[in-house]
Amino acid sequence: MDKIRIKGNSDLFGAIDVSGSKNSALPIIVSCLLSKNDLILKNIPKLADINSMTKLLQSFGASCVYNNNILTLNANKIENNIADYDLVRKMRASILILGPLLARFNKARISLPGGCAIGTRPIDIHLNSLSKLGVSFVVENGFVEAFVEKELVGNEVKLTFPSVGATENLLMAACLANGTTTIKNAAKEPEIIDLENCLNSMGANISGSGSDQIIVKGVKALNESTHIIMSDRIVAGTFVILAVMLNKEFVVKNFNPKYLVSLTNLLKKMKANLKINKDSIEIRPSEKIIGSFVQTAPYPGFPTDLQAQIMALMTIANGSSKIIEKIFENRFMHVAELNRLGANIKIKNDTAYIEGNRVYKGAQVMASDLRASVSLILAGLCAEGETTVNRVYHLDRGYEKIEEKLSKCGPIMFRES
Ligand code: UD1
Repeated sequence: MDKIRIKGNSDLFGAIDVSGSKNSALPIIVSCLLSKNDLILKNIPKLADINSMTKLLQSFGASCVYNNNILTLNANKIENNIADYDLVRKMRASILILGPLLARFNKARISLPGGCAIGTRPIDIHLNSLSKLGVSFVVENGFVEAFVEKELVGNEVKLTFPSVGATENLLMAACLANGTTTIKNAAKEPEIIDLENCLNSMGANISGSGSDQIIVKGVKALNESTHIIMSDRIVAGTFVILAVMLNKEFVVKNFNPKYLVSLTNLLKKMKANLKINKDSIEIRPSEKIIGSFVQTAPYPGFPTDLQAQIMALMTIANGSSKIIEKIFENRFMHVAELNRLGANIKIKNDTAYIEGNRVYKGAQVMASDLRASVSLILAGLCAEGETTVNRVYHLDRGYEKIEEKLSKCGPIMFRES
């Protein structure tokens, strides 16, 4: 299994380009199932999760050709609508194929996503909302069997929680439903706006994404289209936090800082020195970073996907900090490893108490999930001495060639098998 070795007390200079958004690309790739025509997607990041999703689509008979960040998809000939465990278990986002398969074929059989049991790591909001469009479900033997009697029929659907995935699943299904679907209490994440833009470019009739009410007027079929995936706001935020941690002059470019306001507001409160431009953020050294408090929340709140990274910063800030994780239970797996590197963080239920003024000291650590992995990379780059982050395949799910990209800006880090 690959590991990344990092030389601490790192330098950082110049600028870094933000790649395409994983969380935007995944549902948009899946939306090719809604059409018999080509869907050409540009700015697709080279990531393990994208690879897993295209493999899943290929297992249905779709054609997926990836070349130079451009993915050409065609789902004209779909021979199979069964998604097997081996492909689905790797990624929770696999559940996104449910809506499009139902819209196009009226039935689907999908293995429950890895470790997922309805009720505990649930997909209940996905299933309940799709059932409002006329879908029936049987859940047994680790599979969700879904079918529609005649056709999907538009309806008013109020989500019990603004789940990102459930909003996307319902949005895609509703595109080809008979009549109008109104999604209330919809997730407002920017990635949903990107999905709306792509689907509308294919001929769908959707409005309201980015607000808590989305209206989808069903159409008969979707056409060929080309779409450019938005930049990854979480990757951008990760690099901004890194530059603040290293206290260097650095530019993170090629993304929309508007989508990171919750982060930049917090960083300014912590006394970071940021210049926010139209499509970049310039980070400049600041005198003293101070501790703070933050609580994760659905967009436009502070993203859970930046919680591990901000915790890595809070550890070296002046004074103590507190983070409340409101989106996912059990998303503090990085804490034990950050503590190995010298942090002093205590967890009580959904709250992390972070003692500041710590100095990271290089050590061997183990990556546990995607965002946890990158928080260890950030800490390792600030540490005294060398850090080895083991089991970095999680990192490859969400960060495109991170060691290669960062190495061009000063850090000394390399991968070993
Ligand atoms: C998406 C993102 C992920 C991000 C998360 C929250 C993708 C591919 N992934 O995940 O990076 O961390 O949004 O911003 O876009 N829930 C239920 N029942 C459901 C669905 C969700 O209880 O049917 C719960 C989840 O267990 C979780 C919370 O709702 O506690 C948020 O989940 P959701 O918004 O659905 O996240 P994902 O779409 O899985």
